Amino acid sequence: MQARTSFGQHTLGREYFVSDEIWNAEHEKIFYRSWMLAGHVSQLEQPGSYFLFELGSESVIVLRDQEGELCAFHNHCRHRGSKLCREAQGTLGKTIQCPYHAWTFGLDGALRAVPTMSEVPGFDAADYPLHSAALTNWEGFLFVNLSRDPQPFADALPGLAGRFRQWRTAELRAAVRREYEVDANWKLIFHNFSECYHCPLAHPHLNKLTPFRNSENDLDEGPVLGGPMWMNNRDGSMTMGGERCAPTLPGVTDSERGKVYYYSLFPSGFLSFHPDYVMMHRALPLSKDRTRVVCEWLFHPDSIAAPGFDPAPAVEFWDLTNRQDWDLCANAHRGVVSLAWEPGPYSELESQLAAFDRQYRRALGEEVIASRRAG
Ligand code: FES
Ligand SMILES: [Fe+2]
Repeated sequence: MQARTSFGQHTLGREYFVSDEIWNAEHEKIFYRSWMLAGHVSQLEQPGSYFLFELGSESVIVLRDQEGELCAFHNHCRHRGSKLCREAQGTLGKTIQCPYHAWTFGLDGALRAVPTMSEVPGFDAADYPLHSAALTNWEGFLFVNLSRDPQPFADALPGLAGRFRQWRTAELRAAVRREYEVDANWKLIFHNFSECYHCPLAHPHLNKLTPFRNSENDLDEGPVLGGPMWMNNRDGSMTMGGERCAPTLPGVTDSERGKVYYYSLFPSGFLSFHPDYVMMHRALPLSKDRTRVVCEWLFHPDSIAAPGFDPAPAVEFWDLTNRQDWDLCANAHRGVVSLAWEPGPYSELESQLAAFDRQYRRALGEEVIASRRAG
């Protein structure tokens, strides 16, 4: 099924990769308003554990409090703004103490201890809790929204509702993490993920396991895009040897066993559902021409605990594929910033890129695009 067509649609123009105005508008209208894939519950198993979600000027502490509840707070002190947590992840005690003047907050965000401020007339610690940030736990994946008035998660990412439940992703654990910095604009990384037109040339090994035409798009418009590819070996997986490196995940049905399902989640990452593991890619824009990609491989805890568990065949396969992709993205970036660049036509195999661009333009807002045209 190659549903919606990309016929007649062209790639994005140079300004979307070089303009400071568009870069700023992307933050204001997209990154600071969207539900951003931030991590997985398995990163917060113990009370007091936390990780940071950081993007642009923003830093958010995502934590599990002493009662076991998940919550998120903006990572700055209400006194004079000092960053509270400086390590990317860790374990807090029962409180978060500011490193500057020792204001101390509970894991519920309440200001609990304030040296010397009792001398200040009218000061009430209850007026200065940490600013909370919106957090959603969807099937174990944690999403942060930096907006003060976020769109409800279910309205923002409707393609996710009820889908992928059989993978029981909340039970999985991140076994391996790899981080990459790619010399390419974040949109090129989404574009690259959204087609397999490049697979025969760029990924001969991947293309052997899942020939590039073995695909269909079951979500083809909106913020969640993607669909399955089917494997030549229906008992295999996407690994170096093509074999599964763990037992099939418990809820995966017979019809799903021979497939790998790839979805992009606008604007923050990708989820890939394999028969034996799930992979999460998070794309974090660092600058117009640089993007950090954090990649995690999630397995069932029983597989991880089993003697001889070895995720290397899956990790090496995707690490190789990732590096091939990042090289292609960086190479494409060099071309789209050229003064001579003109948008090229999408092929039939690039309908998901055309859909991504439509979603991007909707999110960015017509007024930004119109002002670029006028200017
Ligand atoms: S800035 Fe945090 S206590 Fe002063
Ligand atoms: Fe690729």
